[in-house]
Amino acid sequence: MPVNLRNRSLLSLVHHSERDLHYLLDLSRDLKRAKYAGTGSRRLEGRNIALVFEKTSTRTRCAFEVAAHDEGAHVTYIDPVSSQIGHKESMKDTARVLGRMYDAIEYRGASQEVVEELAQFAGVPVFNGLTDEFHPTQMLADVLTMTEHCAKPLQEIAYAFVGDGRNNVAGSLLLVGAKLGMDVRIGAPRELWPSEQHVALCRDVAAGSGARLTVTDDPVVAVRGVDFVHTDVWVSMGEPVETWAERIALLLPYQVNQELLAATENPRVRFMHCLPALHDTHTVVGARIAEQYPELANGVEVTDDVFESSANIAFDQAENRMHTIKALLVAALG
Ligand code: CP
Ligand code: NVA
Repeated sequence: MPVNLRNRSLLSLVHHSERDLHYLLDLSRDLKRAKYAGTGSRRLEGRNIALVFEKTSTRTRCAFEVAAHDEGAHVTYIDPVSSQIGHKESMKDTARVLGRMYDAIEYRGASQEVVEELAQFAGVPVFNGLTDEFHPTQMLADVLTMTEHCAKPLQEIAYAFVGDGRNNVAGSLLLVGAKLGMDVRIGAPRELWPSEQHVALCRDVAAGSGARLTVTDDPVVAVRGVDFVHTDVWVSMGEPVETWAERIALLLPYQVNQELLAATENPRVRFMHCLPALHDTHTVVGARIAEQYPELANGVEVTDDVFESSANIAFDQAENRMHTIKALLVAALG
């Protein structure tokens, strides 16, 4: 049966099959090559896409804008400050308005329920650009990047996520690897393990795909033998600043440094991060943390020497946000 993703939303990856994901990854590769070769065509001419951001973004917004522009579509960027969303108009009403004008909607915000409500009432495809629970468009880029940097068949690739194991990126990495039959490890303190419900869902999926899933509080066990080590910020958008003290105490043993990379026993291991990363003091947050916690002066979730080393492929990963989001738009609207 051919894969048909026309008018399909992407809310969490839960409802996408292995074949759907392979289709999007193959299309991403084709569109990336076409862009490099200068043979791209404008498959989204005349389409209009609304980009609703209730949380800040660099990569996701730019990826949607450039992908849409490359394919001839127009976008409108909408934030809560300059729109009626939230303070004067509910998401249900916003959905019914945007659905009358736009061919698709991207949404980034805190609540998974809100993006699902938007999809229920808009009548056009909705793409989750990050909620507290899931970051599905990031996963397409992450898997594409891993396949570009590893000659093994996809199902033989092993990767670990170390850090805040119950955040949107960790949970999504567990799910996407489970769908694709990969070897996925989460290394996190027990307090920050993904929810039992999410792990049970992923184990169910893995039973069908042949994926190997490990959730452990031992960072060395998590990374041994892997091809890729992923991490993410220790405190996510929307979490109170007071969280930092407790998070640092829990996550210091999970920092990605040279020692942890050596524990993979794989000299070709690559480092991945969805970005933004706190690896130096050149940001307001990075500087504040270094001042308060001198042990983190060389980086928080990742040390600066790892980040600046040739092991780091996070910028390839960032570029791939655009090619994969383009595939999502073309598959749904092209
Ligand atoms: N990785 C990611 O989603 O980046 P932004 O927050 O910059 O969109
Ligand atoms: N876990 C991070 C991901 C940022 C892309 C956050 O939600 O802030």
